[in-house]
Amino acid sequence: MGHFTPLVVFESPEAACRQLAADIASFIRSNDARHRPTVLGLATGNTPLPLYRELIRLHREEGLSFRNVTSFNLDEYVGLERDHPQSYRSFMHRHLFDHIDLPAQNIHLPPGGVLTDQIPARCTAYEASIAQAGGIDLQILGIGRTGHIGFNEPGTHIDSRTQMIELDAVTRQDAAPTFGGIANVPTHAITMGCGTILAARQIALLAWGSNKAAIVRKAIEEPVTDQVSASFLQTHRAATFFLDRAAAAALRE
Ligand code: PGA
Repeated sequence: MGHFTPLVVFESPEAACRQLAADIASFIRSNDARHRPTVLGLATGNTPLPLYRELIRLHREEGLSFRNVTSFNLDEYVGLERDHPQSYRSFMHRHLFDHIDLPAQNIHLPPGGVLTDQIPARCTAYEASIAQAGGIDLQILGIGRTGHIGFNEPGTHIDSRTQMIELDAVTRQDAAPTFGGIANVPTHAITMGCGTILAARQIALLAWGSNKAAIVRKAIEEPVTDQVSASFLQTHRAATFFLDRAAAAALRE
């Protein structure tokens, strides 16, 4: 069995993201005051969009600066050009990076656009750049209907590190609308491993809506299993679930 995983339930995704963004802002400001950098682990998908909107608002209206922030994204599709509209690099620029003052050289995503035979070395280099930055202070996560964090599909080992994986059929179906059909969805991706994610000093997993309720319950209330990567968060001492009411609806307690 795992440990108790703290969770907070909010009225809406926006309310949850106001709280989390305020926490991130005060963390960045206190690091800035001590001349320390802030290392954020970032996620793609629909889930973090309200968080990114709120961080952009804090930047524009409340002077929050990201000049001392370094970011590492969880994952990237294999085989898409960097600037492909569906690449996670493009996603992050569209929804966050183009609207804040995070320096371009501080932005990191796993290398999806390289030739397959270069991928293992580039994955090792990605791990090394995280280590060189001092490790991740706060990792933001969504959760897939397969229970994946990053693209760590069922069966991924708790100690796994950044690697190329084959996407689960459910995950590819969920991505089909944004790609204009499942045939266009890449079959592989590069993802931080479960071990990479669990090495972050703090973790915030976000989940909204009734279609996440069943997997959220499994992740929080069922025993730790490699069939649900998010259940590994039960073993982390500073992981918090940020839920809206619908995503929390199946919890027993
Ligand atoms: P979503 O994806 O944010 O688009 O629901 C979450 C995930 O697959 O991790």
